[in-house]
Amino acid sequence: MALLEVDDVVVQFGGVTAVDHASFAVEPGRITGLIGPNGAGKTTCFNVITGLQKPTRGHVRFADKDITSLSVHRRSRRGMARTFQRLEAFGSLTVRENVKVALDIHRGLKGLVQRSATDIDALLERVGVAAYADERADAIPTGAARLLELARCLAGDPQLLLLDEPSSGLDESETDAFGELLQELTREGRAILMVEHDMDLVMGVCDEIHVLDFGKVIASGRPAEIRTNPAVQKAYLGYSDDDAGAEAPAEQTRTDLAPVGAGGYADPYDEGATTVIPAVGGPGDQETR
Ligand SMILES: Nc1ncnc2c1ncn2[C@@H]1O[C@H](COP(=O)(O)OP(=O)(O)OP(=O)(O)O)[C@@H](O)[C@H]1O
Ligand SMILES: [Mg+2]
Repeated sequence: MALLEVDDVVVQFGGVTAVDHASFAVEPGRITGLIGPNGAGKTTCFNVITGLQKPTRGHVRFADKDITSLSVHRRSRRGMARTFQRLEAFGSLTVRENVKVALDIHRGLKGLVQRSATDIDALLERVGVAAYADERADAIPTGAARLLELARCLAGDPQLLLLDEPSSGLDESETDAFGELLQELTREGRAILMVEHDMDLVMGVCDEIHVLDFGKVIASGRPAEIRTNPAVQKAYLGYSDDDAGAEAPAEQTRTDLAPVGAGGYADPYDEGATTVIPAVGGPGDQETR
């Protein structure tokens, strides 16, 4: 049974429809990807799920309860935690102090008073930032700061983790370790919903993927299905394998699509880089278009 259900959600900002009758579900014990080109409505969906944004219409259900009108903190108490696309840690506190504050907040919410140094160190160790424990959060590399965000989320022992672009700033080996950590967290029964532009990570770790384009869910399925889905290829590349002659159009119609010969889109966090939706089979199995 689904832990989270987004049901026919619409979000309008004046004349802009950021989310357009989107419905999708997130299962416990699984990593679910929410992907789509820039401006597709991914972060707005996260805001609706976590209570920061009231939907124009539609419902959100969590653990079988309609939570559409619950406040952010009540949702958090029910077991939801979220990282932000922009880093949110307290810059003037150390990494350890940041995790301590998060633990105190969650324990306070749950009426618990005890916190031990071991809990903090175990969390820092688990996400891989123990080496930065005594450094100020605003002085550590971006990759470590992303991992600190995850540690702060885990302080609340959430059932559902919502991660908005968690791998930006991580190098390749950090991203691999991060993917393994996510899988370990789902083996504990947690559900993860992840917005992510790194397609290698998405295709490598997600059990299921939902694709948004202009606010609509245009595809849902396993990574192998999503990769070869013509509507998804069109959304990212402007054309699909099904198109006759399958060549990149001379001019891209969307500013966020990088006009690269091999087909790909610009990663806004990695200047100059492009990402091709990769083969699920792993490196060396990349599709050529
Ligand atoms: N507060 C707001 N007011 C007006 N328009 C907004 C607001 N927030 C988002 N939008 C618009 O809604 C659409 C969806 O934005 P959103 O940030 O959800 O996309 P996204 O998929 O997260 O994009 P990205 O990959 O760039 O992070 C965009 O057209 C955006 O400009
Ligand atoms: Mg976003």
